[in-house]
Amino acid sequence: MNINQTKRVLSGMRPTGLLHLGHYHGVLKNWIELQHSYECFYFVADWHALTTHYEDPSIIGESSRDMVIDWLAAGVNPGNATIFIQSRIPEHAELYTLLSMITPLGWLERVPSYKDQQEKFRDKDLATYGFLGYPLLQSADILIYKAGFVPVGEDQVAHIELTREIARRFNHLYGKEHDFEQRAETAIKKMGKKNAKLYKDARRRYREQGDTEALAFGEALLESQQNISLSDRDRLLGYLDGGGRILLPEPQSLLTASPKMPGLDGQKMSKSYGNTITLRESPQDIEKKIRTMPTDPARVRRTDPGDPEKCPVWDLHHIYTSESTRLELAEGCKTASIGCIECKQHIIDAVLEELRPIQLRIKDYLNDLSGVDSIINEGCENARDVAQDTIAEVRKAMGLVGR
Ligand code: TRP
Ligand code: SF4
Repeated sequence: MNINQTKRVLSGMRPTGLLHLGHYHGVLKNWIELQHSYECFYFVADWHALTTHYEDPSIIGESSRDMVIDWLAAGVNPGNATIFIQSRIPEHAELYTLLSMITPLGWLERVPSYKDQQEKFRDKDLATYGFLGYPLLQSADILIYKAGFVPVGEDQVAHIELTREIARRFNHLYGKEHDFEQRAETAIKKMGKKNAKLYKDARRRYREQGDTEALAFGEALLESQQNISLSDRDRLLGYLDGGGRILLPEPQSLLTASPKMPGLDGQKMSKSYGNTITLRESPQDIEKKIRTMPTDPARVRRTDPGDPEKCPVWDLHHIYTSESTRLELAEGCKTASIGCIECKQHIIDAVLEELRPIQLRIKDYLNDLSGVDSIINEGCENARDVAQDTIAEVRKAMGLVGR
């Protein structure tokens, strides 16, 4: 890991409707897990939602707070994670504007989601400037917090790659302060005689002979320094490898390992397919939705044997049912010794049990909206502090007079 990488995680979700089990299994459980080992920033990406829902934005305002409530109820802990709303941190927009100055048009046109999404949402006119630019807005979201890691699905990896390229370009263009070398030399002295000599030797060996071991040694040496400031450390890193000062560190994607959550029809669970169970679904509706799920089409009568591999219900068993029970159920299906109703009951029970505590907490939060708002306000304040520090550095680096 690059020593410039912070242990900070950042991720966002679009508020375009109620959260469903696909969000829970595919994203939220991972977010909750990450809270234990990282400093996490999670936000409601309401500007992102506008890039696709600008014609009827009412859903955005309605779902923003509800989405936060569902996060909290699922286990996102405001004591461990900063929870905030993108549009309340205007610094994202300022960084987006500033980065747009150095972003080649071709980089945005080449992002795969640009064409893919336009095809997917044929009913929407996405030939807008905002839609073309939204991966850059995402880069600004990430870079304004200097996040080291971004948990994303596969479809978003290209956006993280773009973010890395933008950061590299920014650092290359603006990482050199006019008195960079002098500041670096001053910083070296702060390490003490012995370490200063080690650093200089490593730098010389790397710069003169391309000795990558010396580079790694120099980086490790900087990491172990207690008595130099973070900006001096950044400077010395840049001085070591010749890249100038790293103002915006390059993030890495953290690919979520969780399997795709199947929907009620065997396709991936997604609102646009109408095959979801939301986190707020009533027990009656959960039962009804699962009872009426299609099964192996060959099992017309109870006495017809079935093939689990041809049944959407089976995909759900992979999420909810232990292997030993799965073996029994598969056997029962193939020999027609169990019926589909019995087989589905396992899923119904598991989903009800999974959602019961979450729904109780949702209810509590809905009864205490001002408590939820305080959590959001506090998160926004915390996020804004970080964002303001970064934007001040960026303004300065880009020649704008500081405020
Ligand atoms: N674009 C992401 C999505 O559509 C949401 C998002 C916005 C995001 N900004 C982000 C995710 C920054 C991770 C980091 O799902
Ligand atoms: Fe599907 Fe289960 Fe019915 Fe077999 S018994 S067809 S796996 S629902």
